[in-house]
Amino acid sequence: MRKRLVRKLDLERALAKIKPHTTPSAYLEQYTITPEVAAELLFIAAYVNDDIIDKTIVDLGCGTGRLAIGSALLGAKGVVGVDIDKDALDIASKNAKILGVKKKTQWITADINAIRGTFDTVVQNPPFGVQKRKADRKFLVKALKISRRIYSLHKSSEEYYGSKGPRPRSRSSFTSPSPFLKRFIEKCGGRVIGVYNMFMIIPRMFTFHKKRKHKFPIDLYVIEKVS
Ligand SMILES: C[S@@+](CC[C@H](N)C(=O)[O-])C[C@H]1O[C@@H](n2cnc3c(N)ncnc32)[C@H](O)[C@@H]1O
Repeated sequence: MRKRLVRKLDLERALAKIKPHTTPSAYLEQYTITPEVAAELLFIAAYVNDDIIDKTIVDLGCGTGRLAIGSALLGAKGVVGVDIDKDALDIASKNAKILGVKKKTQWITADINAIRGTFDTVVQNPPFGVQKRKADRKFLVKALKISRRIYSLHKSSEEYYGSKGPRPRSRSSFTSPSPFLKRFIEKCGGRVIGVYNMFMIIPRMFTFHKKRKHKFPIDLYVIEKVS
């Protein structure tokens, strides 16, 4: 296990400085990952699995850059953030400057399908498919084509929580993969090596959001390429 050079709380505080999208699109599901979930994902990747420090990282659907910038702050060799929305990337680039990782980060405006090359690690918080069914699937396909290690967030299947709903937890805990996602990942040549359950909170952003804040369970899939 790697020695922790950055405290998790310090990473969360730094990531909290990241400016969100000013005009997010509902269709692209442009909500921002919370600093807590971003730090948890990155700590698992960096310090449990040694997949960040001195590694090349790509953040697919990077939005305003929290996962990409967090990877750079933890010591990645170089980080590429890709998003289809130029406005999001303009904000990401300014965020990288504010947090002092401008030189380590590169921002590409493109559909993820256009990305070529290989990277040590993919980090991604793709659209969950609330607006467009299974929107997360093409992110998994691309991730498995360009990397051997993937950290990917997905909406939890309700079935794990029963009728009373999820119990609040401050830290992530192990859970089982959704059988559908597991099968899909295996069909794409990957293997799920761990699933961590955590909570995402998004503020009211769009007119169809009823509550001031929406808290919902999500699963972090740690995936490796096997073929
Ligand atoms: C749920 S948001 C996550 C943003 C950011 N990664 C975060 O966690 O804060 C999903 C992002 O994927 C981007 N996106 C959606 N479809 C895309 C595509 N086909 N190619 C590239 N980016 C895409 C959206 O613009 C949006 O920024």
